[in-house]
Amino acid sequence: MFDLSGKVAIVTGASRGIGRAVATLLAARGAHVVAAARGDHAGETVAAIRAEGGRAEPAAVDVTDTGAVEAMVAGALERHGRIDILVNNAGIARDQLLLRMKREEWDQVIATNLTAAYVCAQAVLRPMIKQRSGRIVSISSVVGQTGNAGQANYAASKAGLIGFSKALAREVASRNITVNVVAPGLIETDMTRALTAKVQGDWAAQIPLGRLGETADVAAAVCFLASDEASYITGQVLAVNGGMYM
Ligand SMILES: NC(=O)c1ccc[n+]([C@@H]2O[C@H](COP(=O)([O-])OP(=O)(O)OC[C@H]3O[C@@H](n4cnc5c(N)ncnc54)[C@H](OP(=O)(O)O)[C@@H]3O)[C@@H](O)[C@H]2O)c1
Repeated sequence: MFDLSGKVAIVTGASRGIGRAVATLLAARGAHVVAAARGDHAGETVAAIRAEGGRAEPAAVDVTDTGAVEAMVAGALERHGRIDILVNNAGIARDQLLLRMKREEWDQVIATNLTAAYVCAQAVLRPMIKQRSGRIVSISSVVGQTGNAGQANYAASKAGLIGFSKALAREVASRNITVNVVAPGLIETDMTRALTAKVQGDWAAQIPLGRLGETADVAAAVCFLASDEASYITGQVLAVNGGMYM
């Protein structure tokens, strides 16, 4: 089950947190992982994967740079001859009440969390169509499903990923390409460590399973949707949120 041997996977935002856990699990299942992050940030992830006997390469890519994304995909295609899996994970938050939100805070979040998913998906689509197979998984958020005060930009980007994925799923289903979304709740990473203890506590109190999630919880869902076993699942949102939104 969930054997990804011979598959080539691109994971954005693979330097830490959820992206790193996803890259690590896909590699452990046999995929060759292109681990993307800015500068040389993905180097540690790649070194750790290789130390475990997995296959990975770093890609220095800012996902808001269309040319850099296209070059990454073209390079991976040239070296490996195929792209099987894209995980749109890179994401940022710039929280602010809407009345005070600067245009720059809105634009940065939309560019990184939503526009980059469009750019990455468009870049991998041609090879996937040629192969007549592919898996695109985007990391949304429970906030994209429920909204959250102070996160209008983030919620819009994460809800946007859901609409984007459903539309694309319908476009490419006939080519045997599936497009799905994983919507994590509150997961222990740098992003949530940046929240105050009070905000973390308030959120945790709303989680029926009584704990924050771990990056491995999200990685398992992504690995499933990327696998052959999920070949009849498309246009879906898989919530990994401890029950905080049902
Ligand atoms: N943690 C949670 O509770 C939670 C809940 C729901 C959804 N999510 C979503 O899950 C995803 C990962 O979150 P996380 O908590 O693991 O975040 P994180 O620890 O802050 O990591 C963010 C990742 O995104 C990358 N990134 C940010 N901007 C980038 C850019 N312009 N170009 C390339 N890479 C960029 C970072 O790479 P660099 O090294 O280049 O900075 C890093 O690898 C995000 O989309 C987030 O919205 C998280």
